[in-house]
Amino acid sequence: MKLGNGVVELIAEGGAGSEAVIRLELRTMFPGLGGTLLTHEGVAAALRIERNPDPMSGHMMFIRHLIVKKLDDHFYRTGVYTFSHVPRVFGSISYGPSEVREAYIYEWAFGTDGFSWVAPGTRDDIILRDWKQFVDNFWSVGLDLQHDVTDAEDGRISQNIVHQYPLCTESGDMCSLWKRIDFGFRSIQVNLDRLTGFVHDKATVLQSSLHCDRYEMLRLAVRYLAERDSVSDYDLGRLERFIGEYRRSSLRHYAYGFGPAGADVCVNGETETLIEGRKPTEGPASDAG
Ligand SMILES: Nc1ncnc2c1ncn2[C@@H]1O[C@H](COP(=O)(O)OP(=O)(O)O)[C@@H](O)[C@H]1O
Ligand SMILES: [Mg+2]
Repeated sequence: MKLGNGVVELIAEGGAGSEAVIRLELRTMFPGLGGTLLTHEGVAAALRIERNPDPMSGHMMFIRHLIVKKLDDHFYRTGVYTFSHVPRVFGSISYGPSEVREAYIYEWAFGTDGFSWVAPGTRDDIILRDWKQFVDNFWSVGLDLQHDVTDAEDGRISQNIVHQYPLCTESGDMCSLWKRIDFGFRSIQVNLDRLTGFVHDKATVLQSSLHCDRYEMLRLAVRYLAERDSVSDYDLGRLERFIGEYRRSSLRHYAYGFGPAGADVCVNGETETLIEGRKPTEGPASDAG
């Protein structure tokens, strides 16, 4: 389907859970806070459509995932664990067309959801490389990413972790090529006091691992999560600007072909916003595909 200046092709129904329906799409158009972005190359993306579309839940889901992504950047960049395990996050839609009103867009992870936590032919747990450091360190900053990672009917089977090469070595290890997905309200629990405390107390180390603008984006995003109603329009505007810049840089890799001035992501005139007064009350703010 061709939409405005971008293209969205539905590839498949990517999955469904209790909170959301996921579509696998190939896109060059990414609506979101800070502007709709256009890339040259198509990107395999997950469109997560909330089943209970509370107003702003598309942006809220984007912001939850954004916070997890920036903490993941901090952890692997500082050597807490070795590789990134959180998909990139690309955009969000609030009050979209009636079929897709609240949703967000993030990187599709190719692989298998539902590997065995138990080594074949044994009762021993497999060792998923980086997993223990990943869950321990997220736990220490207030996020329980170990929650909701086993199938409700068979606790030996994983869920919400996409493994991209799900073969066990003889020693029972599985390699680090995995991504944690699903940052929904039922899947991850957030201790906001602990998260807020971490972001304030560790400002200096976070500024050095993430750089200043990204740290400020993280700090404002955590504030939005913790006390959305008390964030001023001025700070919401700053958060949108930081997010727009971050989304451009996440997508820049796919932008080659827009001319000699450097491969940059194109921004069209449309934008999404967190500021209530600027929010359209009816009709599409942007097109979800
Ligand atoms: N980025 C992704 N890459 C691969 N598969 C995905 C991705 N996002 C979701 N899925 C698939 O869709 C299913 C449902 O998505 P999920 O975010 O877990 O929704 P819910 O919160 O309803 O459980 C997942 O269990 C997984 O199989
Ligand atoms: Mg799930």
